[in-house]
Amino acid sequence: MSIKPTLIKAPLVENIQLGKDYYTSWFFAPDIVERISPGQFVMMESGQYLLRPFSVYEINEDKIGFLYRVVGGGTSFLSRLQVGSKVSIHGPLGKGFSFAEDKNIPILLVAGGIGIATFPIVARVAKEKGYKVKTLFGARSLNDLVCAEVLKKDSELEVITDDGSSGRKGFVTELLTHELQRDKRQEVFVCGPTPMLKSVIKVCNEFGVIAQVSFEEYMACGYGVCMSCVIKVDGKYIRTCIEGPVMKSNLVTS
Ligand SMILES: Cc1cc2nc3c(=O)[nH]c(=O)nc-3n(C[C@H](O)[C@H](O)[C@H](O)COP(=O)(O)OP(=O)(O)OC[C@H]3O[C@@H](n4cnc5c(N)ncnc54)[C@H](O)[C@@H]3O)c2cc1C
Ligand code: FES
Repeated sequence: MSIKPTLIKAPLVENIQLGKDYYTSWFFAPDIVERISPGQFVMMESGQYLLRPFSVYEINEDKIGFLYRVVGGGTSFLSRLQVGSKVSIHGPLGKGFSFAEDKNIPILLVAGGIGIATFPIVARVAKEKGYKVKTLFGARSLNDLVCAEVLKKDSELEVITDDGSSGRKGFVTELLTHELQRDKRQEVFVCGPTPMLKSVIKVCNEFGVIAQVSFEEYMACGYGVCMSCVIKVDGKYIRTCIEGPVMKSNLVTS
C-alpha cells in the first residue's frame, strides 16, 4: 500500500549546531512522523525558489529531525531559522530501505560524508527489530564525523578519514572490503556522494553482494514531474525520487 505524502507548514522546534557547518533541525510534524519509513526523504522550503530534499535523520515523539551540511543558500537559510518559524515540508517521499526477513543476517551501513544523515533512524529501527547493526563511516576529517555518538547507541561503529585525523587513513571501501572478506552474508545499505556510491557498488559486485543504495541526485520537485533526478538503468531513464532514493545495486549501472 502506498502512503500519500502530505504538504504541511511545520514550526522549527530546535536548531543544534553539531560542528563547523553541520546542523540538526527539528520540526513539529506529527502528520509526517507517523508515516515515515527509514530511508525516505522530504522536500523542504529553504528560502529558495525550489524546495530542497533532505533525508529523515530521526524522529522523536511528534518531531522530525534533519542533519545537514551548509553548502549553499537553502541549507544556510535552515541553519539560521528562528525557533517557531514555519516552513513547508512535503513528505514522506520515495522508497526507503527494506529489511530482510531473516533477522540473523546482520545489517551493514556504509556512509560517505553527509550520507550519514539517513542512517541514525535506520540503525535504531533495525536494532529495535532485532538485527545486529554495524556502521562503516568514511569522512574527509574528524570535523565531518558528525553524529558518531548517536550511531554508537544502536550500532557498532568503525570510522575512516581521508586525512587520518580520526580512525584509519583511507576510504570507506577499504573497511567494506575487509568486512565482506570476513562475512559476505550481510545486508549492505549505502548512502553518500555519487563517486563513493560507484566505488562501493564495484566492491559489492566483486563479492557478489547486492546492496541497497540511497541516491542523492539533484531533485527539483521530489514527486515525479520534473525529471531532474533521472538516472539510466538498463538503457532507460528512471526517476530516483519515485523508484528511489533507495535502489538495489544490481539495477543501477556502476
Ligand atoms: C534524497 C536526498 C536526500 C538528501 N538528504 C540530505 C541530508 O540529509 N543532508 C544534507 O546535508 N543534504 C542532503 N541532500 C543534499 C541536499 O539536498 C543539498 O545539499 C541541498 O539541496 C543543497 O541546497 P542549498 O540551497 O544549500 O545549496 P545549493 O546552492 O543548491 O548548492 C550548493 C552546492 O551543493 C551542490 N549540490 C546541491 N545539491 C546537491 C546534491 N543533491 N548532490 C550533490 N551536490 C549538490 C551544488 O552543485 C552546489 O555546488 C539530499 C539530497 C537528496 C536528493
Ligand atoms: S525530482 Fe522531479 S521527477 Fe524526480
